[in-house]
Amino acid sequence: MPMASFLYSSPATVLVAIGLATAMMGTFLSPFAEAARAFFVFGDSLVDNGNNNYLATTARADLPPYGIDYPTGRPTGRFSNGLNIPDFISQELGSESTLPYLSPELTGEKLLVGANFASAGIGILNDTGIQFINIIRMYRQLQYFEEYQHKVSALVGAERTQQLVNQALVLITVGGNDFVNNYFLVPYSARSRQFAIPDYVKYLISEYRKLLERLYELGARRVLVTGTGPMGCVPAELALRGRNGQCAPELQQAASLFNPQLVQMLKGLNQEHGSQVFIAANTDLMHSDFITDPQAYGFVTSKVACCGQGPYNGIGLCTAASNLCPNRDQYAFWDLFHPSQKANGIIVQSIMKGSTEYMDPMNLSTILALDSHLA
Ligand SMILES: *[C@@H]1O[C@H](CO)[C@@H](O)[C@H](O)[C@H]1NC(C)=O
Ligand SMILES: *[C@@H]1O[C@H](CO)[C@@H](O)[C@H](O)[C@H]1NC(C)=O
Repeated sequence: MPMASFLYSSPATVLVAIGLATAMMGTFLSPFAEAARAFFVFGDSLVDNGNNNYLATTARADLPPYGIDYPTGRPTGRFSNGLNIPDFISQELGSESTLPYLSPELTGEKLLVGANFASAGIGILNDTGIQFINIIRMYRQLQYFEEYQHKVSALVGAERTQQLVNQALVLITVGGNDFVNNYFLVPYSARSRQFAIPDYVKYLISEYRKLLERLYELGARRVLVTGTGPMGCVPAELALRGRNGQCAPELQQAASLFNPQLVQMLKGLNQEHGSQVFIAANTDLMHSDFITDPQAYGFVTSKVACCGQGPYNGIGLCTAASNLCPNRDQYAFWDLFHPSQKANGIIVQSIMKGSTEYMDPMNLSTILALDSHLA
């Protein structure tokens, strides 16, 4: 279970490293033939691995103590004490972590690993996260994906590029900020005056559908789509709206409306395309497991963030001046909104092995087995 602690030192990892080196040597013989399946990531801070470091925005995680448990021990822009969800998925694919699209290191052969387009603070809607100023909104992430494909075409040709994109695994995590950093950000927000929650959810789902259709047009054929977690239970909301440590009901209600409609929308898209392109990951249930019974997962608490201040360490940002827990693996939440590295590892285990209640219509191990003939 405590995967994170041995991932970077086990003999298995060394074997994987040797395997990768062999694969890379293979590229001298037949260019890029041995590259592992590419991986593309879209969405918000739950999956951003450093794009915002390159932007003039307040939504950033590039200062200590972020990254304290990362292999380098230094902040990377991930909103985690160490690895995030995409990092654990990359490990399952047998790949190195994807680089942020804006990283100057993302050139040449590195492009074939894939890319991470995610940007902390963004939502499905363009007006979500406006307080963070300069972030990469969803339509822009998709434009970058197109630009990425032009770059790869220049490297390996158009046909190989299309193949790489069609065979890739894609992860998209977006929607939480449309509630916490838009509708519920301030009392009487513009969106809350425009829509009641059930209508707002319908609107979000219809806009999300357009984004996913665009992703399909751009060549994505295996897309993991996460729902929103239990937004009312994060330390920030416990501090702001929760009563006596109970999850905030308005946000819990929003999640309980949004997630099932997302699943239905994905089913509709799959029917339209006659193929299981979009896979729903029930992150609400995955989180709820350890929120309901933190001890079962080795956590001392799922209410108090490891890093922060105020009630539940849920007020303000996680900075060098904040309270910091000594053992991050004992906390489900690293900061006021984001799971700890340990929790991210547990979530990815559910994505890999979960029953259809967690992964609809199938888990990632099944996908990897089904698609193995592509490799
Ligand atoms: C977001 O902004 C872009 C660029 O202005 C625009 O093309 C897109 O339609 C907008 N999306 C929505 C949902 O309004
Ligand atoms: C994945 O999903 C399949 C089908 O639902 C299930 O039989 C299997 O137990 C799950 N786990 C693994 C590791 O495949």
